[in-house]
Amino acid sequence: MNAPRPAAELFSLRGRTALVTGASAGLGARFAAVLAQAGATVFAAARRLDRLKELADSDPRIHPVACDVSQEADRTRLVDTARAATGRVDILVNNAAASGETRAEDESPDAFAEVLGVNLTAPFHLARLVAEAPTEDGAPGRSVINISSILGLVTAAPLGGASYSASKAGLIGLTRELAGQWGPGGTRVNALAPGWFRTEMTADLFADERSSRWVERNTLLRRGGEGQELDGALLFLASDASSYCTGQILTVDGGWTAR
Ligand SMILES: NC(=O)c1ccc[n+]([C@@H]2O[C@H](COP(=O)([O-])OP(=O)(O)OC[C@H]3O[C@@H](n4cnc5c(N)ncnc54)[C@H](OP(=O)(O)O)[C@@H]3O)[C@@H](O)[C@H]2O)c1
Repeated sequence: MNAPRPAAELFSLRGRTALVTGASAGLGARFAAVLAQAGATVFAAARRLDRLKELADSDPRIHPVACDVSQEADRTRLVDTARAATGRVDILVNNAAASGETRAEDESPDAFAEVLGVNLTAPFHLARLVAEAPTEDGAPGRSVINISSILGLVTAAPLGGASYSASKAGLIGLTRELAGQWGPGGTRVNALAPGWFRTEMTADLFADERSSRWVERNTLLRRGGEGQELDGALLFLASDASSYCTGQILTVDGGWTAR
C-alpha cells in the first residue's frame, strides 16, 4: 500500500476540466464555485447568462456558457466549447433540473415529457458526449455526477410530482447502467441525492411555516440542509478520493431516508 496522500492533494482538481449545468442559481452555482476552488477549470452552463457572468466574476476559473439543456445543439456546443478551450472534460455535473406539477392529475403527458427532457434525457446525452472521447494515457479517470434527489428514492407525499420523481429515479437507474457500461473504460458514474435545501426550487416550501416545520419534523437532524453541506460529497465524487466508487448513490439528506 502507498503512503497516505495529503487530503488537499487527494481532493485536488488542479488541471481538470469540469462542466456544471444549471449553474446560474442554487446548488449548481455552489457546485461550480466548489470545483473551481479545488482547482478545476469550470464551464458553468444555464439559460440565464447574466447570472453565470456574475458567478464567473467571483473566480477566473469559471467560464459562463449560455445553454438550454433541453436543446440537443446547445448540449453539443457546451461540450465542444470546453474541449476547444482545454482539450478535455474530466468532470460532468448533471445538475440542471425543472420541476413539474405536484399533482399527477394536473400534469399533461407533454408537460411530463418536457420535465424528463431536461432532467433525464439531457444528462444522458451530455454524459455520452463527455464519455465518448478517448482518454489520454495517464489522465485521471472521468467522473460523471448526476444530481438526483431523495424524491428518486422515496415518496415525499404530499410533495413531489410525477415527472420530477420519475426523472430523479430514472437518473439513479441511468447512473447504475452507465457505470456498468463505462466502468471498463475508466469513466465513473455516480449520483448525489440531496434532501431538502433552500434554493429557488424550494423557496415556496421553506417560505411556508407549515411545510418548513414538516421538513424539520421528518429530518433526523431536525433542519433543512445548507448548500455548503454538499461540498464534501461533491468533491469526493469529483476527485481521486472516490477513484474506486462507481454506480453509487450518495444521499445527503440529514437522515430523511433513514426513517
Ligand atoms: N433544492 C433542493 O432541496 C434539492 C433537493 C434534491 C435535489 N435537488 C436537485 O439539485 C439540483 C439543483 O437544484 P436547485 O434547488 O439548485 O434548483 P434551482 O435553484 O431551481 O436551479 C435550477 C438550475 O437549473 C437551471 N435550469 C433549469 N432548466 C434548464 C434548462 N432547460 N437548461 C439549462 N439550465 C436549466 C436553472 O438555470 P436557468 O433558469 O438560468 O436556465 C438553474 O440554474 C436539481 O437537479 C434538483 O433536482 C435539489
